[in-house]
Amino acid sequence: MSAVMTDLAALEAELSARVAAAADAASLEEVRVAALGKKGAITERLKTLGALSPDERKSMGAAINALKDRVTEALEARKRALDDAALDQRLAAERLDVSLPVRPEAKGRIHPISQVTEEVVAIFSAMGFDVAEGPDIEDDFHNFTALNFPLDHPAREMHDTFFFEPKADGSRMLLRTHTSPVQIRTMMTRKPPIRIIIPGRTFRCDSDQTHTPMFHQVEGLVIDRETHMGHLKGTLEAFAKAFFEVDAVKTRFRPHFFPFTEPSAEMDIGYERVGNEVRIGTGSKWMEILGSGMVHPNVLRNCGLDPDEYQGFAFGMGIDRLAMLKYGIPDLRDFFAADARWLEHYGFDPLDQPNLATGLSR
Ligand code: PHE
Repeated sequence: MSAVMTDLAALEAELSARVAAAADAASLEEVRVAALGKKGAITERLKTLGALSPDERKSMGAAINALKDRVTEALEARKRALDDAALDQRLAAERLDVSLPVRPEAKGRIHPISQVTEEVVAIFSAMGFDVAEGPDIEDDFHNFTALNFPLDHPAREMHDTFFFEPKADGSRMLLRTHTSPVQIRTMMTRKPPIRIIIPGRTFRCDSDQTHTPMFHQVEGLVIDRETHMGHLKGTLEAFAKAFFEVDAVKTRFRPHFFPFTEPSAEMDIGYERVGNEVRIGTGSKWMEILGSGMVHPNVLRNCGLDPDEYQGFAFGMGIDRLAMLKYGIPDLRDFFAADARWLEHYGFDPLDQPNLATGLSR
């Protein structure tokens, strides 16, 4: 072998060893520059070709270029190996065992009112309703006047409604006595079709085993061109079945009066008592669970909607009462006593999100 060829063979052996020894991307780059950079060993040898005779140039050129290709290939292979190793290391370091329990010592429980609110929202969301909210502190217009309450209606009086001190102009703010004012706020700001539910706090001056001064309601409102009483019944029956998690419910609509709906009806559901347990869906007793009706034309007009063009229905029910009924909670006042033992017993697992697919309550 000629001296030049021996030189190339030695260079290849040296470069191969350095490539193999490169432990990271930076040292591999040093090897690449030393071989193929502007002043690299292979580059320098390619520069000598010009001085050779055509025959020599042909054979030497082929040999040096072949060496260049092999070294390039070796550098790339080593780079891939280093990248793979780095990725493996990262994957191993960032590995997360998702089967590990999350803070097994965590003790928080979801309050039955939050649970039932989320259940109701899950059911109506699946039917295409949005959630709307409004302020706890209301004015007379939204809580009463716009809802077609006559001026001398007893609900306006002190013994039902918490009023604030009169303002300079004589008007008094109040704690909303129901979630219905959010009907008004929604109809005044949104164009139909409207399909909303409104969960929230409500206040009335009342306290016994089934009444607390602060309680919770969820209101429903649907406004469109052809919404009728059949839609109201179908929606509320579907709700009752889903909420009580039974295949069938018996419902009964009894005529009633609300200033803001006409006609109005209370919905009763059939139940029976077996020992201490209340069973929904069977039996021959009736229990009232909500108020409802077709939105009164005056209410639509008060919100700037033409009753000849739009109509719809509304309903309202007590969340706390629904919770007592579904989960067998005997005294409403315990809901607000902040007793950790009570919450431990009646509360829900924070990791169980109520949804229709896997079941509302577990
Ligand atoms: N706002 C009524 C109440 O608090 C309930 C209701 C809402 C009735 C909507 C009819 C329509 O008793």
